[in-house]
Amino acid sequence: RRPDPAAIVIFGASGDLTRRKLMPALYALYTHGLLPQRFAILGFSRRDWSDDDFRTTMRDAVAEFGRVPLDTTQWDEFAARLFYLDAQGYDHLEDYQRLRDRLNTLDETEGTDGNRLFYAATPPQAFVPIVESLGAVGLNQPPREGAWVRLVIEKPFGTDLASARALNARIQHVFDESQIYRIDHYLGKEAVQNLLAFRFANSLFEPIWNRNHIEQVQITVAESIGVENRAGYYDRVGALRDMVQNHLMQLVTLIAMEPPASFDAEAVRNEKVKVLRAIRPFDENAIRTRIVRGQYGPGVVNEKPVRGYREEEGVAPDSTTETYVALQLEIENWRWAGIPFYLRTGKRLPRKVSEIAVIFRRPPLLIFDDQRRRKMEQNVLYLQIQPHEGLSLSVNIKIPGATMRLEPVMMDFCYHGSFEFAIPEAYERLLLDAWLGDATLFIRADETEASWALFTPVLEAWQRMPPPDFPNYAAGTWGPPEADELLARNGHAWKLMLL
Ligand code: BG6
Repeated sequence: RRPDPAAIVIFGASGDLTRRKLMPALYALYTHGLLPQRFAILGFSRRDWSDDDFRTTMRDAVAEFGRVPLDTTQWDEFAARLFYLDAQGYDHLEDYQRLRDRLNTLDETEGTDGNRLFYAATPPQAFVPIVESLGAVGLNQPPREGAWVRLVIEKPFGTDLASARALNARIQHVFDESQIYRIDHYLGKEAVQNLLAFRFANSLFEPIWNRNHIEQVQITVAESIGVENRAGYYDRVGALRDMVQNHLMQLVTLIAMEPPASFDAEAVRNEKVKVLRAIRPFDENAIRTRIVRGQYGPGVVNEKPVRGYREEEGVAPDSTTETYVALQLEIENWRWAGIPFYLRTGKRLPRKVSEIAVIFRRPPLLIFDDQRRRKMEQNVLYLQIQPHEGLSLSVNIKIPGATMRLEPVMMDFCYHGSFEFAIPEAYERLLLDAWLGDATLFIRADETEASWALFTPVLEAWQRMPPPDFPNYAAGTWGPPEADELLARNGHAWKLMLL
């Protein structure tokens, strides 16, 4: 199904997100024939650009960051649909009146039929001014019957429960929840969507996907990069807000949710919210004992010496911002009660890897001598999200020979071995879904609030506690030793599939 003709308006069109992600994704969709015949992309920002300046800048961006190589003929066809509106600010009503007129003109010249997809790719301070100004000039409503208006909102969605609630309330004052598409780009990742297919399109694992057969679940989202040039944002935010509250919790919900009755946006999101609400809240004791925070000091990553976090440009020399979090949570429902979910994420870890390890219980009886002598390996299902998308299952096998010796081997499925075509970027899928009006992979208001409800007490407690003894892990290591102790207490250890 192709999406309807529409105009997409990108607020923050001169920013990094537009250059690195949105425009390359739109161009890739276009070259794959996934966009409608009639569309217009209207950039909106404070940069004093003409349509042509915008086209040239975007051409460079697509050449630099695009997944599909730039083809001159196709680019020219695509670029003819790029337009630009230079605004004085995100709260200047006259700019929005100009926007409305421009969109009406584009309906005439480009045949966009009155459908509008507004994309807020700006810093979060601009979200409310954009939404309220759109409302003030009537752009929250379609200009004609049968047309639609949707709003895509980037992260970060609030900084705690109160701010997320306030933001939801202000947006919902102007747009109906059904028009709002909150992005979490992890949901656009191919291997993340495959979690749902894997769980609900196969009969093999679902019967054992519970506390009776699974001993623990681990989620690792490791990055080798540091804060790069984003210290201004990151130092106020930290890893819990930047990664755990959104991306990691999304992975938790997909792993843990009950089968929805259909693959419909509301059905899926209802089940995800139930998971978030079933997680045992962190009390003071849990905050102290089940959550580990860390900050990297100087070290070596990919054989290159790197600075510590406090030495990064734009970071205060006594910053107490965490660049690493490990935690244990419990989902108090019949499927998962008593099963630890361990989560960890951090910057400047040894390599970039996002992976989920589902660790099954040991066999009830060890009948082979070899197992009694050595510790029997457990079956582990590794769901690899990046960089090597795939899944692997470790199973114990007899080593050929005269004795009954066992060894775990991997049964692997790797995308690159099974499919010839390249894996689409997360933003391609999400932009297309928003354009199609499918909100399944977007965050509903109650989801974001449920997740903030869980982590706001943690952020508040960290504020009250004495400053942590940072830095507490060297760049290029797997985080502070407390993160290993967290698991060791339960007789567990972090697992990663080694490639
Ligand atoms: C972003 C965070 O949401 O996700 C960044 O703000 C982080 O700090 C990034 O680097 C990681 O995304 P990915 O797709 O590279 O895993």
